[in-house]
This record gives sequence, C-alpha cells and structure tokens, in this order.
Amino acid sequence: MRRIITIASQKGGVGKTTVTLNLGYSLSRLGGRVLIVDGDPQGGISIASNLKKRTTKGLIDILKGQVSAQDVIMTTKEDTLSIVGIGALEPEDVLSFEEEAAKGSLKELLRSLSAQYSYVLIDAPAGLGAIVTALLASSDGVIMLVQCKTLSLKTLPSFLKLVRWIKGNRNAQLHLEGVVFTMMDEKSPYELQLYDEAKKMFPEEAFFRATIPYDRLFEQASSKSVPIAMLREGKDLANRYMKLAMELKERELKREMGGQRDDDTEGLF
Ligand SMILES: Nc1ncnc2c1ncn2[C@@H]1O[C@H](COP(=O)(O)OP(=O)(O)OP(=O)(O)O)[C@@H](O)[C@H]1O
Ligand SMILES: [Mg+2]
Repeated sequence: MRRIITIASQKGGVGKTTVTLNLGYSLSRLGGRVLIVDGDPQGGISIASNLKKRTTKGLIDILKGQVSAQDVIMTTKEDTLSIVGIGALEPEDVLSFEEEAAKGSLKELLRSLSAQYSYVLIDAPAGLGAIVTALLASSDGVIMLVQCKTLSLKTLPSFLKLVRWIKGNRNAQLHLEGVVFTMMDEKSPYELQLYDEAKKMFPEEAFFRATIPYDRLFEQASSKSVPIAMLREGKDLANRYMKLAMELKERELKREMGGQRDDDTEGLF
C-alpha cells in the first residue's frame, strides 16, 4: 500500500526534518521503498541529507516542467531510500508553488512520484501556512510533532483544527496518523508530568507510543548529514525510530483490518 505522509508541526525547530529522514530510513530498512520529499522552501531535507552535493534541482523544477522526476530523484546508499529536494527556490517560486498546489498539480505530481514507492514522506515547513496547507491537501496522512513543553503542547488544538478543516474542505482522505513527542527530556519530572496530562486530554490513539528523546548526538548526525543509525554510537536512538516506523505500520494494518469486509474472509485465492 503506497502512502503519502507529511511530517508537520506548528512550531519550528522541533525535529520535523530529523524525523522525516530517520523515519524514512527506518521504513526503508523494514523493506519498503521510500521516497523522502523536501517540502520546505528552506530546504530542510536537502541540507540534512547533503543532497545539494548531487543536485540543486527538485520538486519546484518538476512542477515548472523544467526537468523530469527521474532526473531529480536521487537514490542513496540504501537502494530502497531515495530523496527529492525542493529545488532552487526563488522568492517568486514560493508563490507559484502555492498556486500549483492550489490548482491540484502538486497532488498530481506527488501521486505520480509515489507510484514506485511504498511510502512518500514529506518534510513540511513549520507553521500553518499556505505551503503546509497545500502539502496536507495532497497527502494521505499527517504525522504531527510536538515537544513536551507547555508552549508546544498549546499548538496541538489549532493544528488539529487545521487538519479537520483540510479534511472537510480540501482532502477528505487525509488521516491523522498520530502525534509524536520529540526531543523529550525523559529524565525531567516536569516533561513526564506534561506528557501524562497531554495524553489524558486526547484519545489514546492520538499519540504514538514511540517517543524520540532529546540527545546531542542528533546534532552530530545533522552535521554529517546522515540518519542517526549511521553513527556508531547511534544504535539505541535509531532503535527509537525503528519503533516509530513499526508502530506506523501497525496502525495501518489495524485500520486495514478494521475496514475489512465479510467477503474478504472467504479465502486468499
Ligand atoms: N531528538 C533530538 N534531540 C536533540 N536534537 C535534535 C533532535 N532532533 C533534532 N535535533 C536537532 O535540532 C535541530 C532542529 O531539528 P530539525 O531541523 O529536524 O527541526 P525542524 O522542525 O525541521 O526545524 P524547522 O522548523 O526549522 O524546519 C537540528 O540541529 C537537529 O540536529
Ligand atoms: Mg525542517
């Protein structure tokens, strides 16, 4: 089952790009073919993966019809993981990006790119702006990130409201995959208390069980432009991402089974 999932957050700097890269890496290790798409005009993924070493062209150039997708999708050392950058975005391109998205061309493009992959993960810019709205209107699912801090948690209701609005007005099939707590200080009683309180405020399934701890090693991985699993000391942290990837798959499977019709049970052949 191929799915297009956007990773988003209302606040900046909470780890969207890092989650996109590491979740994509984990899903590819689990056997899926994964395409990571940079949806951030600031080029989050392009920087985090050092993509510019290979190409400066990307999504915006395909949208403008100047290059073909095959020219800008870059395979990585893992042959099941590929990345496409945002492209060389001029200020006026941001407007055309929004326009193309509003016309539905972005959705069409993402659909056509996704044909050969089991997952397309999109790294969104921070906030609730036009580009994020366009990305969500073109996706099957959204993973929202929050930090276990009062201000970050306060963004939850307005973000969920945006998701509901997009579902009602732009994209009925958008599914909230769940909220992930990132950069958690798991030794802080304050954060653990906030974590418990947040979980009481929303239905249990709203949050992924897997959480991502705060660790300085992520800065090091970012500076080397690699997923955390590629650092020798990063195995435990990589495991946390593997848990997140497995939970995403578990949730999909449960949904699929929940939607199973009687005649599906008649036999495999
Ligand atoms: N779990 C973590 N623990 C510690 N540092 C982290 C963690 N995740 C990411 N970082 C670091 O925090 C910084 C911001 O992360 P990242 O770029 O992924 O955030 P972002 O939400 O994509 O930011 P923006 O909103 O600007 O796009 C990076 O330097 C990254 O290495
Ligand atoms: Mg980012």
